[in-house]
Amino acid sequence: MVRRIYLDANATTPLLPEVLEAMRPFLVEQFGNASSIHQEGQRARSAVEQARASVARFLGCRPAEIVFTSGGTESDNLAIFGSVRAGDHVLTSRVEHHAVLHAVERLGDRGVEVEFLPVDAQGVVAVEDVRRALRPNSRLISVMLANNETGVLQPVEEIGRIAREAGIRFHVDAVQAAGKMAIDVHSLGCDLLSISGHKMHGPQGTGALFVRRRTRLEPLFAGGAHERQRRAGTENVAGIVGLGKAAECALEGLRNGELERILGLRDRLEIGLLEQASGVNGGGTPRVPNTSNLWFETLDGEALVIALDLQGLAVSSGAACSSGASEPSHVLLAMGISPERARGSLRLSLHRQTTEEEIARTIELISSQVARLRELSAVTQ
Ligand SMILES: Cc1ncc(COP(=O)(O)O)c(C=O)c1O
Repeated sequence: MVRRIYLDANATTPLLPEVLEAMRPFLVEQFGNASSIHQEGQRARSAVEQARASVARFLGCRPAEIVFTSGGTESDNLAIFGSVRAGDHVLTSRVEHHAVLHAVERLGDRGVEVEFLPVDAQGVVAVEDVRRALRPNSRLISVMLANNETGVLQPVEEIGRIAREAGIRFHVDAVQAAGKMAIDVHSLGCDLLSISGHKMHGPQGTGALFVRRRTRLEPLFAGGAHERQRRAGTENVAGIVGLGKAAECALEGLRNGELERILGLRDRLEIGLLEQASGVNGGGTPRVPNTSNLWFETLDGEALVIALDLQGLAVSSGAACSSGASEPSHVLLAMGISPERARGSLRLSLHRQTTEEEIARTIELISSQVARLRELSAVTQ
């Protein structure tokens, strides 16, 4: 059997063995409900609070400022729906993940006005556009830190400064940045920040929202008083423990040169595919170190994904969250990229377990499949 190579980390990452080990007791013998007062409950509570402290260290905030959720989508929804009321104005960008875009689109029904900021050819929001778009009723700015499709970073610190000066709440979707760069909520100047466990080698269905102290937030769910009344529902103890451990591992990865290693592999991949690829979407601006969005002229990205899958390589032609839709990526279109070019683009995203050998093999596989598909299309045209 061919050993498969997984380069779709922006869709989801493999669970680290140490994360699984940390979770295991809470899936088996330590099954208590963190709200119970007996010893089983106390042990669960203590594990949840330890994980909260780990996530807080990871983001540079206080443990009490962390709300555990079911993932990035819920964190984004809680930040948005929890912040705005009828009559408010909300600013976001055209390249946000659908967890933000589709949430703000719903705000129209609630009497909230939403404005979508454009991006330049590299996929970056202009800070001046944020300043210009502010209104007296602006209530929330929501801009992502790293884009899921291109890895491109937004000028979040500068936007944070504008938001602070204007007294407007600032939410950052950091789902694709977490574990790939240092994050400090104070230097970002945000009031709310979303992360997701499964994008940083933690378990799927786990996430957190940083909520700055004294930020009033309307909960999404009615129910118990969990998470300081900000997120009702029995805590996913094993998942939260896994997220806490993943945060510890990510912090360690920032210190031990892991990100530099991944960046080196990503560079090698892009250099190795220089001849076949026609360009790197978003390649001219700072990006997270693991993501490469390559454009292959005359090719169909989905056909290439399928061909590579058959050869044992898992990659993506767009955001996996919206797979099934063969529409060209809204992110690439917002960058002014033509639908043909967007359709001919491939996303490769590396992770902590990606090896040099895998990158060498990936270059071979992509080169041969691109050549094969180009030959085929030349014959059929
Ligand atoms: C930038 C971004 N935000 C939010 C999400 C949603 O996260 P989750 O899958 O944990 O719901 C994703 C998932 O791809 C993402 O890339």
